[in-house]
Amino acid sequence: MGFFDNQLELSVTSASGIEAVTKRELEGLGYAPSGAIYGRISFSGDYRDMARANMMLRTANRVFINIARFKAETFDDLFEGIKAIPWQTIIPKNARVVVNAKSFKSKLYALSSIQKITKKAIVVAMGNLFESGGTYTIEVVVNEDEVLVALDTSGTALHKRGYRTYVGEAPLRETLASAIILLSVWKWDRPFIDPFCGSGTLPIEAALIGTNTAPGLNREFAYENFIKAPSVKASVKEEAMDLIERDRDLRISGFDISKDAVSLAMRHAQNAGVSDKIHFQVADMRTLRSRFSHGVICTNPPYGERLLKEDELKTLYKDFGDVYRSLDEWSAYVITSYGNFEHFFGKKSDKTRKLYNSELECKLYRYLGAPPKRK
Ligand SMILES: C[S@@+](CC[C@H](N)C(=O)[O-])C[C@H]1O[C@@H](n2cnc3c(N)ncnc32)[C@H](O)[C@@H]1O
Repeated sequence: MGFFDNQLELSVTSASGIEAVTKRELEGLGYAPSGAIYGRISFSGDYRDMARANMMLRTANRVFINIARFKAETFDDLFEGIKAIPWQTIIPKNARVVVNAKSFKSKLYALSSIQKITKKAIVVAMGNLFESGGTYTIEVVVNEDEVLVALDTSGTALHKRGYRTYVGEAPLRETLASAIILLSVWKWDRPFIDPFCGSGTLPIEAALIGTNTAPGLNREFAYENFIKAPSVKASVKEEAMDLIERDRDLRISGFDISKDAVSLAMRHAQNAGVSDKIHFQVADMRTLRSRFSHGVICTNPPYGERLLKEDELKTLYKDFGDVYRSLDEWSAYVITSYGNFEHFFGKKSDKTRKLYNSELECKLYRYLGAPPKRK
């Protein structure tokens, strides 16, 4: 039995503030995840489970196979620990090995040295490394002198679903957009509106969630090139295809004042295969009305800095607050990096959560409307 045929320790990384959502997603897929440590959640599974996590998780950054754990207080410890790993059963002689390093509260903290020594130990363990073939990215995380060696199975980060081929102004990461929706009270049978939809990320992620479409269906993963491992993608893809609920009648809308943004959003929705599930339209948020008494707004309005001057921003947020209050029993989830949002919106949120859009610190403001009455 090869390394990849065993029961494995797997891990996923997730952005600060959304680890709990990723953990819930893993539980929903039937796993028993650990708590997050520095944004990493571990769980047990086999090689196919690794591929399932890559295909199905909406909020994770990457999926790893945890190869080894050992204690290291010196570079000699690190070298010996890495060399002892059965690399021959994991990577081929022609592997191109890339090493990334992270260190928290440890004696070994010089990241470039950790990278160099790890690489050297792998080359020694392999006898030789020709580096002419596929790429294997190894992550070495040293936390309180405990080393975790993990193999990146995702490759390109998972927020890149493959549908966003053109970048609009200040887009939201797909993983973050999904996390906001999963944190909200929205379910597929409720109306959903993003009045500042930009390149369409929130409505598209909502349509993927609403149709139960796996986010990774149309992309490739690093593990597909692991030549010592079994082929699992086709069976996972088949499982994901079987889960899709195409016939659901969704009520998802995206509006933006910019014609270019709306045509970009439409193109992205088409790439994602959900263009028939979303109504996109050029419109000023100030004209927003709804015939539905209940629904959910998830949105990422302009936040100044690059996009708008401070005065315009204040007026926009005030007008947005007025529009929101004119809607009946709607809930709203607003993510912005603008610190004074609640003041100009004119209503204190009932909950806030600190989140990051790439490096930018933002807050998600939650305003709960009354739930729809059950018939
Ligand atoms: C931060 S961006 C949204 C990015 C989007 N979440 C994405 O992932 O691409 C804010 C958007 O608000 C739009 N906008 C600005 N003023 C508006 C208004 N009065 N009504 C509607 N949209 C407006 C801008 O054109 C811009 O696309």
